[in-house]
Amino acid sequence: AVERTLSIIKPDAVGDNHIGAIIARFEDAGLKIAALKMIQLTQKQAEGFYAEHKERPFFASLVEFMVSGPVCVQVLEGENAIALNRELMGATNPDDAAPGTIRADFATAVSANAVHGSDSPEAAKREVAYFFSAEEVHSR
Ligand code: CMP
Repeated sequence: AVERTLSIIKPDAVGDNHIGAIIARFEDAGLKIAALKMIQLTQKQAEGFYAEHKERPFFASLVEFMVSGPVCVQVLEGENAIALNRELMGATNPDDAAPGTIRADFATAVSANAVHGSDSPEAAKREVAYFFSAEEVHSR
């Protein structure tokens, strides 16, 4: 089925000038960019986005990292977009990420892993709505 998923290019990859290369991975795989913006997350926005992780030992450092510089947030649309995006990203820890994946090529650590992608249809719905109004997402 055609799905939408939320993708974030994190501050490490934005700072390292990899926005274009990462977007190209999505487009080359057939995913459409349905929405796109660059933002500086506030502490509250980052905490709210990662609320499900708030009891984890790495929560504070995760939030600190996510507000350390601008991020590029996009909605990817296409057949099987949620799983396809996760395949393109590779494993959360770049040490475990398959060769040729975004995290293998652009991430340096589990805490600075270049990209985020929704992990389920429920998460995708919540995460897309967290950053974009309905009018900002374009079916294409
Ligand atoms: P993401 O897919 O954005 O969702 C939660 C994030 O927490 C994850 O990517 C990692 O970047 C981060 N994370 C997961 N495990 C750890 C860890 N052990 N230490 C620091 N950050 C982590």
